[in-house]
Amino acid sequence: MKKRILLGVTSGIAIYKTLDLVSMLVKNDYDVNVVMTENAKKLINPIIFETLSKNKVYTDVFYRDMDVEVKHIKLALNSDLIVLAPLTANTMAKIANGIADNLLTNIVLAHNKKMILVPSMNVNMLNNPITQRNIKQLEKDHIVMESDFGHLACGDYGKGKFPQAKRIFEQIESYFVDKDLQDKKVLIGCGATIENIDPVRYISNFSSGKMGNELALCAKRRGAIVTVVCGNVKSDYRDFGINYIDVKTNEQMYEQLNKYFNDTDILLMPAAPVDFKVKNKKDTKIKKIKDCKNYDPIEIEENIDILKNLTKNKKKQFVVGFAAETNSVKEYAISKLKDKNLNLIVANDVSNKNIGFNSDFNKVFIISKDEIKETEVLTKREIANKILDSIVEKKCL
Ligand SMILES: Cc1cc2nc3c(=O)[nH]c(=O)nc-3n(C[C@H](O)[C@H](O)[C@H](O)COP(=O)(O)O)c2cc1C
Repeated sequence: MKKRILLGVTSGIAIYKTLDLVSMLVKNDYDVNVVMTENAKKLINPIIFETLSKNKVYTDVFYRDMDVEVKHIKLALNSDLIVLAPLTANTMAKIANGIADNLLTNIVLAHNKKMILVPSMNVNMLNNPITQRNIKQLEKDHIVMESDFGHLACGDYGKGKFPQAKRIFEQIESYFVDKDLQDKKVLIGCGATIENIDPVRYISNFSSGKMGNELALCAKRRGAIVTVVCGNVKSDYRDFGINYIDVKTNEQMYEQLNKYFNDTDILLMPAAPVDFKVKNKKDTKIKKIKDCKNYDPIEIEENIDILKNLTKNKKKQFVVGFAAETNSVKEYAISKLKDKNLNLIVANDVSNKNIGFNSDFNKVFIISKDEIKETEVLTKREIANKILDSIVEKKCL
């Protein structure tokens, strides 16, 4: 069944940005009911919210349907989650003090469950001790999202900016996920490393980092504290409260993972470190005309095995390795499980062009010392959750 979001909209300048959030929610199959304050209606016509949400917008506390139901109680009870965005300093102050003088504040008082609050305002209004006290008070019962830093509509520069719609959307998605990894420290090695040939050229591989990023997102949604040591790949999840540390070479990736490893509950290593580095790396660019005919051949040497070195110091950590193979997938994976002292290994066949590298889909074996599970072809996000389910099932945490 569709999740029902009651979106409370107050008269902040960022009101137009909430339209993006509404369409994002509707596209992702949420049922959105918008309630606006009277002042919000002065900034934007409710018809726009009605068109995007495909639901009537409510404002008046004394409005009655034909069936004499008490509207604010019905709206409060029927919603799975209330989100207030943008939330003015004014309405925030009312909520923090239990004031119910319009439909929205009445609904909030009748709902009595955890809400997501998205305050946004001028930096001086935000820094005012009264506003700060109200935020602290509301944080005891609700998720109060931190506002962004930047140029504000009033011309000031500072904190108070409305967060991007995708960050609010992510907070909403996360609200509905079971927190079975609450406060677990999850460390992830993600993406390809690179090894320089000269200052402008390098050796690397085709890893997109998608599996590592999906694991990071899913672990974060399940309540974990997530650190990603990230190679030469992009991520759309950098604003979602995940700690991303960017590295280039194997040595840098090892150094950063090693720094966090002792204090980690779960290490996930879908990274694709380059197996070799260049022995005769040049400090200046190899020139095409001058050097090409008569340059030194590139000599390679073995690179540090990150996972094997990390697990030498393994104590309480639950360690998950990944194996991308082209043949005898299960056999290689099982030998890697033992060789690298892993608790679990996730293996897939990269010779299949439709899955694996760069694809959004994969099909894997999840192998422990006493069990082999095989998944269907699934999205990488679904695979990430299957892997995390297997870790939770092992009850080693
Ligand atoms: C153009 C305009 C933009 C405003 N932007 C904000 C804002 O971003 N944040 C805020 O707290 N108040 C803002 N205000 C002030 C509120 O609208 C004002 O405090 C109002 O009484 C709040 O009413 P409400 O909370 O019932 O919507 C703005 C006012 C105007 C006219």
